[in-house]
Amino acid sequence: MESILVKDKYFKKFIDAKAIDAGVRRIAEEINNDYKDKNPLFLCVLNGSFIFAADLLRKITCQCQVSFVKYASYSGISSKGEIKTMIGLNEDLNGRDIILVEDIIDTGLTMDHLLTELKTYHPASVRIACFCFKPVAFKKSFKIDYLAMEIPNDFVVGYGLDYDGYGRNLPHIYKITEH
Ligand code: IMP
Ligand code: MG
Repeated sequence: MESILVKDKYFKKFIDAKAIDAGVRRIAEEINNDYKDKNPLFLCVLNGSFIFAADLLRKITCQCQVSFVKYASYSGISSKGEIKTMIGLNEDLNGRDIILVEDIIDTGLTMDHLLTELKTYHPASVRIACFCFKPVAFKKSFKIDYLAMEIPNDFVVGYGLDYDGYGRNLPHIYKITEH
């Protein structure tokens, strides 16, 4: 299969837009079912989740609010393990049912810190909706409540996921390749 160049690395197509949509549709149905009579606040983690969040939220039928937070910890193709704090939170989370929307969980360090920080705002509940998950890289133990895809421990781009800021706009997901 033909590879594409993103910045200075080659990637090959891995998950087609149709399969992506099917995964998003499935978890939207699960959320619609679980939150039918509730009023959740979706907290989308920028930048990576912007496309997943836009697709997911348009399939949500329960009453809900949507907000965005930012929490960057990644540069290049390997996690630096350095964790920054959450910014951009304007809502009162006290007593709210929160659904965190994230593009990918790799080691889980970022999400683990975010969960710890969120607890200090006393939400009624916190669940996680994540597009893709690398079980082999995972170092934590929290539950991912709504997951579209499990993927191998390869670096991927597209559908919001980036390599040094590039590749987020790609409609399919691509994984890194030799050439
Ligand atoms: P974690 O803290 O190791 O779980 O990493 C989470 C963050 O690392 C994600 O929100 C992404 O920004 C980034 N990340 C991890 N794996 C990938 C990947 O394969 N492609 C692009 N970004 C990734
Ligand atoms: Mg992210």
